[in-house]
Amino acid sequence: MNKRTFIQHSLALGAAGFMPRMALSEWLEKYQSYSAVELANDEQFWAGIRAGYKLKPDYINLENGYYCFLPRETLDKYVGHIREVNFHGSYYMRTVQADNKKKVIGRLSELAGCAPSELALTRNTTESLDTVVNGIHWNAGDEAIMAQQDYGSIVNQFKLMEKRYGIVANILSVPNHPASDGEIVDLYRKAITPKTKLMLVSHMVNITGQILPIKKICDMAHGLNVQVAVDGAHTFAHLNFRIPDLGCDYYAASLHKWLSVPLGAGILYVKEGRAPGLFSLMADWSMNDDITHLAHTGTHPVATDLTILDAIDFYTKIGPERKEARLRHLQNYWTSRVRDVKNIVVNTPAEPARACGIANVGIKTMKPADLAKKLLDKYKIWTVAIDGQGVQGCRITPNVYTTTAELDVFVNALVEMA
Ligand SMILES: Cc1ncc(COP(=O)(O)O)c(C=O)c1O
Repeated sequence: MNKRTFIQHSLALGAAGFMPRMALSEWLEKYQSYSAVELANDEQFWAGIRAGYKLKPDYINLENGYYCFLPRETLDKYVGHIREVNFHGSYYMRTVQADNKKKVIGRLSELAGCAPSELALTRNTTESLDTVVNGIHWNAGDEAIMAQQDYGSIVNQFKLMEKRYGIVANILSVPNHPASDGEIVDLYRKAITPKTKLMLVSHMVNITGQILPIKKICDMAHGLNVQVAVDGAHTFAHLNFRIPDLGCDYYAASLHKWLSVPLGAGILYVKEGRAPGLFSLMADWSMNDDITHLAHTGTHPVATDLTILDAIDFYTKIGPERKEARLRHLQNYWTSRVRDVKNIVVNTPAEPARACGIANVGIKTMKPADLAKKLLDKYKIWTVAIDGQGVQGCRITPNVYTTTAELDVFVNALVEMA
């Protein structure tokens, strides 16, 4: 690290140190009248949000895509819930557990814009999507469509269905830089045959951050009698949207990603009327046809469920619109500085509607793993290497606590290496 980079780096890591330790609500009160657009590049405002996190001083964290760890406020509440559940023991489980879970589903369905009867709590996106893929009444010869850029283990779940039921998994490839929504919709349309039953589509491609035109894809698919399951691992509480507006049949998300819930919480949305058509993965007590038959897990960490309410409070206090605008601003802040630099390849579209907080960048002369290693060893920047599925580079995922000073350190590192 040269002297200039070192000073920038120290400033970037220390930025929150200058902030007064004020309660989040008090801080937000001061900015009540400011719009999402006005605040997107207001470093002072976001420094106040940053002050609510305990950040490791060892590196700049640009890998929030795996897990968006909790701000102090939510973490303290979580620890409180663990203590409380532990204090009451089975009394808690037998008296209020079920009511509290209903409350959580109620708040989550408000956030998702759907009916509580369309939403189930799961442990993650994987469980939610695999419930759907396993739950379809497959016959030999049925077809399913997915993309090479979808999450690997979910694609493999379809491969398991190939082995078990003799279905055909039809895998297409989404371009990193589509010319239009029409190009993407056509790609999926051309893959449909009279035997296609289900399509898996990523709302945001996890390795590049590309947002796909879900509503248009769903409208086209429904016109051809094909159901659509959407992988929303990276979009719930990242983008500001209502699930029913997407027009999909099933939607899955992990709450430990952008909602900053403790590890091991997810949702499964099943459009009204679709739940009876799916087999359960695990039998529940009632054996009814409603969505509860799809979400039985047995005894699990209920303190995590309770913390969902606190995480929703934190998210809604910041404001979904403000969060989306800030994340898009951060991504654009660094990608716009490196898109035209020789030897640098940005694997994420530039159009605002096709990306938000996540983007992917490679250096032509470096393997992604070497790039990630050098970023950490030399520049103290934590990222993740992606090398496959048509993408070579590092995935860069800032969060609401990320500063533009940190991104300056990252941009300088990229330019120096390129
Ligand atoms: C697009 C996508 N789908 C599914 C998953 C799986 O999420 P989880 O491990 O929380 O089930 C991930 C994880 O990163 C992902 O990026």
